[in-house]
Amino acid sequence: MSGPPVVTVDGPAGSGKSTLGRRLALALGLPLIDTGLFYRGITWAAIRSGLDADHPEAVAELARRTVVEVNTEPADPGWEVRVDGVDPGLLVRDPRHARLLSAISQIPEVRQHLLPLQREPASRGAVAVGRDCGTVVFPEATVKLYLLAEESLRAERRRAQLAGRGARVDRGAARAEIADRDLGDAASMAAAPDAVVIDTGTASIDEMEAIALRRCAAAGLLPHPPRTGESR
Ligand code: DC
Repeated sequence: MSGPPVVTVDGPAGSGKSTLGRRLALALGLPLIDTGLFYRGITWAAIRSGLDADHPEAVAELARRTVVEVNTEPADPGWEVRVDGVDPGLLVRDPRHARLLSAISQIPEVRQHLLPLQREPASRGAVAVGRDCGTVVFPEATVKLYLLAEESLRAERRRAQLAGRGARVDRGAARAEIADRDLGDAASMAAAPDAVVIDTGTASIDEMEAIALRRCAAAGLLPHPPRTGESR
């Protein structure tokens, strides 16, 4: 193995990549980089500034002067992202902004600006979750996973995930979000040719984790003993 150990988990919205990514980060004792949070942070900043994706240069400029901090500690669910020092909480996942989120994440200057920031927390290794982690952000990753699932299943997961965080989202809204995001994110989503593809419609999260950890072990990445106070 050359370079720090990196495991990438890519896949469409609602495919279960955040859940799997967090489990793997805990099991392997690595930071968790949820790359989508960078795009979500910039989108939230754009909404606060009254900007939309019809003004890509202004959004790119905003991205360059906005400080987005992403929580990379997988055992700390206390916060996800801070934008210029402010925690937007659940607003950063508001499905009503799905279209804007996709549009902003397709602005090339925004992607370019975020790339080194997404790589930076992986200096000693990481589990990175997103759309293009195995192809663009960490093309040299040790293990690459790509998750698939049917749209209806992903919509139901998204609804349940938001409900679990105290947000009320009906089934129609969750489906619309997933459909919009699939369309909007298509350009940046790609399975690396060397990625292991897992169909999350037929595998439970425990099975997914077991498959992933077997791959990691085969690549020389061994589970790490839980730290005191660490929960899963
Ligand atoms: O994974 P997520 O749903 O939190 O991602 C939010 C948005 O960011 C999504 O619409 C696509 C974009 N994204 C991206 O283009 N590339 C990534 N590596 C991660 C996310």
